[in-house]
Amino acid sequence: MTAHGAADPATERPHGAQHTAAEFAAVYGAAPTGTWAAPGRVNLIGEHTDYNDGFVMPLALPHTTLAAASARTDGVLRLHSGGADGGIVELRIDALRPEPDPQAGWAAYPAGVVWAMREAGLPVGGADLHYDSTVPTGAGLSSSAALEVVTALALNGLYALGQEPQQLARLAQRAENAFVGVPCGIMDQTAAACCTAGHALFLDTRALTRRQIPFDLAGEGLRLLVVDTRVKHELGDGAYAERRAGCERGARALGVRALRDVPYAHLPEALAGLADDPVTQALVRHIVTENHRVEEVVALLDAGRTRAIGPLLTTGHASLRDDFKISCRELDLAVDTANAAGALGARMTGGGFGGSAIVLVEEADAPAVGAAVTEAFAAAGHAAPRIFEAVPSAGAHRVE
Ligand code: GLA
Repeated sequence: MTAHGAADPATERPHGAQHTAAEFAAVYGAAPTGTWAAPGRVNLIGEHTDYNDGFVMPLALPHTTLAAASARTDGVLRLHSGGADGGIVELRIDALRPEPDPQAGWAAYPAGVVWAMREAGLPVGGADLHYDSTVPTGAGLSSSAALEVVTALALNGLYALGQEPQQLARLAQRAENAFVGVPCGIMDQTAAACCTAGHALFLDTRALTRRQIPFDLAGEGLRLLVVDTRVKHELGDGAYAERRAGCERGARALGVRALRDVPYAHLPEALAGLADDPVTQALVRHIVTENHRVEEVVALLDAGRTRAIGPLLTTGHASLRDDFKISCRELDLAVDTANAAGALGARMTGGGFGGSAIVLVEEADAPAVGAAVTEAFAAAGHAAPRIFEAVPSAGAHRVE
C-alpha cells in the first residue's frame, strides 16, 4: 500500500493511514482507536472455479481500502466513506436484517459483516467507521471484498474476537451472500484476508487449504499489467448466478457433489454424457479445464518457469470467452492486442462481463504492450483503459 499520506498513483487521491485517521477525526470528532487495511486483488488463474469447490490463484494488489474505527457502547453502527457521496449512515446493530438487494449502496457490505458476525454468535457491538479506498470499483478487482474484509478485521481488533483471517473471509462471504444477495464464492474474501506480499495464493476452495507461491515478477524481469477496460462489471445482474446455477446443474447431471470432482482425465466421458445440453456441456468444459490449468500453473511456478504460464493464461481466456461466455469486446481486444504486441499471455480476470484483464509481459516490453492496448481502444472508439502494474502485495492487516 502507499505510505502515510501519499497520493495513490492510480487515483491521485490522498491515501494512507494518517490521512484516513485525520478524516475519521474530522467526521466523528475524536481520533480512531485504530486503522486497518485490506487490498483488492487480481486472479492469476482459476476463474469461476471457487463455487465449484475448485482451485484459484489470486494475488493482492497494492490498492487498499482503509478503515479507521472505534468501538461504541450503545449498539449503534456509524459508517462514512471518503469516496461515496452522502453523509454518515447510522444503523442499530440489533435491527440489522438481511434484505438481499445487490443494488443496495456501499453501506450494505459493512452492515452485512456486522450482521454475519452477530449471526455467528460473536460478541461484536457498535462502532464508528470511516473508509478511504484506492481499489477501483466495478473493475472486477474486488473492491467489495476489500470493504467487507477490512470491516471484519477492524471489528475483530476492536472487540478482540480472535478470528483467523480465513474465518474473517468466511464471515465476509456470508455477508455478501446472505445480506447483500450476491452469490459469490470464497476467492475474493480469502485473497483480501490471506494473501502475502510477493506471492500468489494457491487456494483449494473446498478444503480451504492455502499455499503461498513465490511470485517475484520484478526479480525475474517480468511485469503483470492490469488493464481496467472501464466497462462496468456488476455481479448482481443475474448472469453470474446463471453461470453458477448452470454449473450446479452440470454437477447434478454427472452425479458429483461439485464439478471439482470431475477429474480432467474423465472429461471426454463427462462431456459425452452432456451431449444433449450444449450450454451445460460448455460450462463443465470450462470448469474442468480451468482447474487443470491452475494445477499446471502451480507446477510451472514450482519449477521456476514463470514465463511458461503465459500460454495457459491465454488459453484460459479463450475458455472464458467461448465456453463460459463471460468476456466482452473490450476484454477480448485487450487480450488479443497485448498478445499480438508481444505479451507472454493475457486473460480477463474476475467475474467477467467487463472489468479488467491481466497481461504477463517482459519488463522491457511492458511500455510498448500497454501503448498498443491504449491505441487499439482509441481506434475502436472505446473509452481509454486504465493500465497499471499488479505488484503482489500484502493481505489485510492493521496499519496504525
Ligand atoms: C467474482 C466472485 C468470486 C469468483 C469470481 C470468478 O469475483 O466474487 O467468488 O467466483 O467472480 O472467478
